[in-house]
Amino acid sequence: MSLDPAAWNNAETLEARELVRIGLESFDGDVAIASSFGAEDVVLIDLAAATDIPFRVFTLDTDFLFPETYALIDTIESRYGISVERCRASLAPNEQALVHGEALWSSDPDRCCAIRKVEPLQQKLRTLRAWITGIRRDQAPSRASAKKIEWDEKFNLWKFNPIADWTSERVWDYVRAHAVPYNVLHDRNYPSIGCTWCTRPVAPGEDPRAGRWAGFNKTECGLHKE
Ligand code: ADX
Repeated sequence: MSLDPAAWNNAETLEARELVRIGLESFDGDVAIASSFGAEDVVLIDLAAATDIPFRVFTLDTDFLFPETYALIDTIESRYGISVERCRASLAPNEQALVHGEALWSSDPDRCCAIRKVEPLQQKLRTLRAWITGIRRDQAPSRASAKKIEWDEKFNLWKFNPIADWTSERVWDYVRAHAVPYNVLHDRNYPSIGCTWCTRPVAPGEDPRAGRWAGFNKTECGLHKE
């Protein structure tokens, strides 16, 4: 199976659940949800589970995720009966320190993201025909033009963004309505969660992504355009 052009043309009119179903059906096993286990991504997993179609989930395990994130991965695996595919960097943290120096995340965060997230993602995506992400248009100006289904020029495969038009409130309404397990750090002022070194809680009124790479002129790590 491959993507029906009609689905692509009508994508903007389709609901998230339908988009997830089309993604799973169109690419058989060659499609997977990319999950950092933030609120958006657990919603995607719940939507996929509701289709009753087998689905795959992968995570870029940077080795620097929060203990709360690792615990949530276990919870999600047992709740949905899935095995999350963990994509690791080719350099272990101690090897990275030997090659690039201690604390690369603070001396050169772009390089650190490239090694620990972008390269493993690239390798994973080479094995797939489509990926499903939890990006939303109102998260950042760089995401405002994201389509619900788009050709990913950077990685050369289809990209599904089923909740591109959702607000954060809608995500949380879904999480509560369906009792979806979520990262407890969200209850401690971490709206956007990445690696321990580069994520801090935000203060009231701050941009939800202000806690990512705080202190650096950096808002994206290279998974979704530059
Ligand atoms: S990031 O680029 O700034 O890290 P963000 O945390 O907003 O991204 O997440 C946006 C989407 O990128 C997520 O919904 C998910 O699809 C994907 N993503 C981000 N981090 C990871 C990760 N560690 N593993 C897998 N997918 C991820």
